[in-house]
Amino acid sequence: MTEPPHALSLDERRRLAMPGVERTLIGRHPVSPQDELRSIIAELDGLDGSDDSTWDRYGDGGPVAALEGQVATLLGKPAAVMFPSGIMAQQSTLRVWSDRLGSRRIAIPALSHLLLHEQDGPRLLNGFEWALLTTGAMNGGVVPTVDHLAAIPGELGAALLEIPLRDGGYLLPSWEELEAFSLACSDRGVPLHLDGARIWESVPYLGHSPAEIAALADTVYVSFYKGLRGLAGAVVAGPEDVIAEARLWRSRHGGTLWTMLPYAVSALRGLREELPRMAEYHARAVEMAELLAAKGIRTFPTKPHCNAFRIFVESPGDVVTERVVTVMEREHLAVTPRWGDSEDVPGWSWTEFTVGSATMEWSAQEAVDLLARVVLT
Ligand SMILES: Cc1ncc(COP(=O)(O)O)c(C=O)c1O
Repeated sequence: MTEPPHALSLDERRRLAMPGVERTLIGRHPVSPQDELRSIIAELDGLDGSDDSTWDRYGDGGPVAALEGQVATLLGKPAAVMFPSGIMAQQSTLRVWSDRLGSRRIAIPALSHLLLHEQDGPRLLNGFEWALLTTGAMNGGVVPTVDHLAAIPGELGAALLEIPLRDGGYLLPSWEELEAFSLACSDRGVPLHLDGARIWESVPYLGHSPAEIAALADTVYVSFYKGLRGLAGAVVAGPEDVIAEARLWRSRHGGTLWTMLPYAVSALRGLREELPRMAEYHARAVEMAELLAAKGIRTFPTKPHCNAFRIFVESPGDVVTERVVTVMEREHLAVTPRWGDSEDVPGWSWTEFTVGSATMEWSAQEAVDLLARVVLT
């Protein structure tokens, strides 16, 4: 006997409703695996006739080489190497720096992806030790500054900045703070590595090109499946010799795949189609935050630093999630991700909202009216 829907958990109801979703307000519209692969084939057809459309073999040649070349140029770095994942990319890069510097101690914000989402792998697999630049509450955290770096005594193998700091609320430093941090690292002889999973999304707020941002760091990791809507994959750009060594660590970590072609082609598509839209997405996020505030709905940051931000409402997380899931079931419309209870303010809950191509199909006012109808009723 099938159970009535109310006997299911909210997560189960959400999972069941997901395939029926026809429109979404967040990020990009859902796409079937068949349509996604067709779109990647169309991108590959567009490369036809050049070496870029042949297979890479163990990461050499084909669209992988084309992607590495494009990213190195975009970031103004001499060399770049593709990895299957950002987790592997950053461990490999930090391993190179820390071996060179003779210290596995990495200065890092406590809200970094490496500390929160990697199951302690960087420490267990590569022996990294963490020198925490900032602790920071999940809601309203702070980004590291030169003072935080100066407060860490002793040897360091590298310093890492995540731009934007996702678990701090997608927070960015100002351009001046970033420049000062970079200078402090070079004065101290510490390589600066950027976790630029969302560097593309950071460009409008920082007001500088990816190459100008990357010039402040020694190595930069970028991702292709956040704002750029790729399948997966990462690239690290930096000096020739560091990148050559990172390539060795990719093999040692088991990441030199027989081919990464579909991932590389999806990344090339993202650079072509989504990268030019980042300013538009950021402007829409700022506009939506203002309109939400006018309805009494709080965002953090008040003025978003990139295309993603947090929304807060004065109701428990399950209550708001229940409203969101009901709209998914009845209207085939995804309005927000799941909501979680606020750790700081009892009775309040929050979620992350990301502006992407799907969001742009609504006007800012329509999007905010829809959000308010669902989360406040
Ligand atoms: C800030 C940040 N760094 C690193 C990663 C790791 O990337 P991957 O999932 O490709 O391993 C992510 C993934 O979400 C991320 O958000």
